[in-house]
Amino acid sequence: MLARKRRGPFVAGNWKMHLTLAEARELAREVAAAAPGLGGSGLVLVPPFTSLAAVGDAVAGSAVGLGAQDLYWEDKGAFTGEVSGPMLKDAGCAYVLVGHSERRRLFGETDETVNRKARAALRSGLSPVVCVGEVLEEREAGRTTARIDLQLAGGLAGLSGEDMGRVIIAYEPVWAIGTGKTASPAQAEEVHAHIRRRLEEAYGKGAAGCAIIYGGSVKPANSYSLFKEENIDGFLVGGASLEADGFVGIVREALRAYREET
Ligand code: 13P
Repeated sequence: MLARKRRGPFVAGNWKMHLTLAEARELAREVAAAAPGLGGSGLVLVPPFTSLAAVGDAVAGSAVGLGAQDLYWEDKGAFTGEVSGPMLKDAGCAYVLVGHSERRRLFGETDETVNRKARAALRSGLSPVVCVGEVLEEREAGRTTARIDLQLAGGLAGLSGEDMGRVIIAYEPVWAIGTGKTASPAQAEEVHAHIRRRLEEAYGKGAAGCAIIYGGSVKPANSYSLFKEENIDGFLVGGASLEADGFVGIVREALRAYREET
């Protein structure tokens, strides 16, 4: 039943537009201090741009990785307010979120800009965490997988099977983000399995190793049952990642599910 899962949970904390430098440093230190007890998992902190360097310093030498929340697709130039892939790499990032639903909804991002950003990330040696997910009306109208298919086809256009080895897909149903409503494990698994099938159709075996993580009101109390599902490889956590106990608790619970399988 759980034959496919081989890796420990990959858990990223998206801090969104939260935390001062001092708060960011402290939270990062707490997470880094807990990391040795969370071996077998992939941990990534995703602070706002202003805290990247401080968080990078705080987690240096630990198993905690660094990610950014967005990037622009050009490497440099007259693009006031934007930050590029090479700059993120230089700041110590290994990951970058692309096409988060808040960026799509509030800042006009489209599957085409998501694609440009994903390619720019790969070109800069960053792993893009490409976010997809349906809104409530789409789910209620039975259009969830059709929406996801469009986001995958558009967002990943032109990527090779080899590229896919470095891509992470985050399924975040928009109705579950920041609402306290989590997709049930079965609802999430249905979409994750669909995404896995689509990736395998498009990229063959190259996609088999691609992590597909879930986001939307993940907490320590639901992490175990979500991670038990075959195609849920980890989490993209918003609100609960703003406290070390919440974030670490989510990782612990996912690890508990993982260890039962291996
Ligand atoms: P919440 O965990 O606060 O629902 O946010 C999810 C999210 O958007 C992570 O990127």
